[in-house]
Amino acid sequence: MTERTLVIIKPDGVQRHLVGEIISRFERKGLKLVAAKLMLIPEALARRHYAAHQGKPFFEPAVTFMASSPSLLMVWEADGVIDIVRKMLGSTFGYDAQPGTLRGDFGCSQRYNLVHGSDSPPSARNEINLFFTPDEIIDYELSDARWLYSKKIKPTK
Ligand code: TYD
Ligand code: MG
Repeated sequence: MTERTLVIIKPDGVQRHLVGEIISRFERKGLKLVAAKLMLIPEALARRHYAAHQGKPFFEPAVTFMASSPSLLMVWEADGVIDIVRKMLGSTFGYDAQPGTLRGDFGCSQRYNLVHGSDSPPSARNEINLFFTPDEIIDYELSDARWLYSKKIKPTK
């Protein structure tokens, strides 16, 4: 099913000049970019973004980190994109994440793990609404869409 997910290249990803590398992974996978903006996330918004973690020991440092320097916020679209992006990120801590994943290839920290991806359809909806207004998300056709999903290709005779 066509889904959307919120992806954030966190402050460490922007500061470490990894924006192009990270976006390029998602592009090459065939995902569709439907919204993007650079933002210095206000602390209050970072708090709402991580609200599910309120009370955990890493909550305050995670909020401070997210509000410390600009992030690149994006909405990506594809069939099953929420799980696809989570797989491409790898597990939460860079030192645990598999090589081949973004966190596995580019970091070895706990908190500085470069990229956020929504973890479920309800989180994706909430997080997209938190950072984007509907008019900032653009609906358009990808010219190579028929080559990305085999079910959309008509059988040849
Ligand atoms: P979480 O939602 O559990 O991870 P993920 O980003 O993989 O969905 O946690 C949110 C962020 O909080 C995580 O990306 C990094 C930070 N964090 C810590 O700093 N220490 C921790 O022990 C955990 C679990 C997360
Ligand atoms: Mg999470």
